Amino acid sequence: MDEAGPGTAAGDVDAADKPVVLEVSHLTKIFDDSQIPGADGMGNRVIVDLSLQVRKNDFLCILGPSGCGKTTLLRCIGGFENFEGKIRINGIERRTPGTDRIMVFQDYNQLFPWKTVEKNIQYGLKLKGIRDKEELRRLSDHALETVGLSGYQKYYPHQLSGGMKQRVAIAKALALKPEIILMDEPFAALDAITRNTLQQELLRISADQDWDCTIIFITHNIQEAIVLGTRIMVMEKGGTIAVNEKNPIRRPVTPASEGYGAYWNKLHAALYRA
Ligand SMILES: Nc1ncnc2c1ncn2[C@@H]1O[C@H](COP(=O)(O)OP(=O)(O)OP(=O)(O)O)[C@@H](O)[C@H]1O
Ligand SMILES: [Mg+2]
Repeated sequence: MDEAGPGTAAGDVDAADKPVVLEVSHLTKIFDDSQIPGADGMGNRVIVDLSLQVRKNDFLCILGPSGCGKTTLLRCIGGFENFEGKIRINGIERRTPGTDRIMVFQDYNQLFPWKTVEKNIQYGLKLKGIRDKEELRRLSDHALETVGLSGYQKYYPHQLSGGMKQRVAIAKALALKPEIILMDEPFAALDAITRNTLQQELLRISADQDWDCTIIFITHNIQEAIVLGTRIMVMEKGGTIAVNEKNPIRRPVTPASEGYGAYWNKLHAALYRA
């Protein structure tokens, strides 16, 4: 389904020849609706037979109307929902959470409020089995430096702005060096300026070979998807895939980029058809 036209080199990152990190095969998710008044009791079929591959270093942005199942898809990949079908990470089937798939949410309050910034980051590292204090400090400092928060190690979440909390959440995910970072509208609650800044930071981090990231990023914002994604997917109601293609706009993307307007219109139309 790739539709990058002639002369429209797809971003600076082309992961087509990279190995598949995530493989979702025939995923079906039906929520029990037997307790919901007015429902037919047949189950809410949110995702039906969805298949998807994500390659190493892909930055996949998912757009879709509210309620189409984007969060549900991410939660299935994260191992937080039971489902039918198969989800494999590097070929190994996964059905429960693990430090190979880390989620970053929209909610500012995804940090432990009683732990300092560095302890929040080190928490996941300890779960991964890292015990050495020096090593923990080195890893959390490096992640904090990457998100521009050196010097905030001893702060508590309530002493940070919303944008800073999201930076810590990203640092927490990065520090674990997961196979894939799952981001559910992480910038949706930020003001426009902070959102732009964090988009640029995430672009920089995702292109940094030291971090070697693979990202799935849900957004309602078409511009955000075109600016960030190496691939763009539009989901439609019923959890099927309407679009899944290489982003044809060359990075760095701005609204003045060649082809931007036409591509925005195409995604907008797909989104409103969905
Ligand atoms: N725990 C649950 N139990 C029952 N139904 C659920 C549950 N979680 C989600 N759903 C249903 O699944 C459908 C998809 O929800 P989901 O949160 O995945 O949508 P979304 O695409 O992320 O929407 P939004 O863009 O508004 O965040 C909705 O109909 C919702 O009611
Ligand atoms: Mg959602």
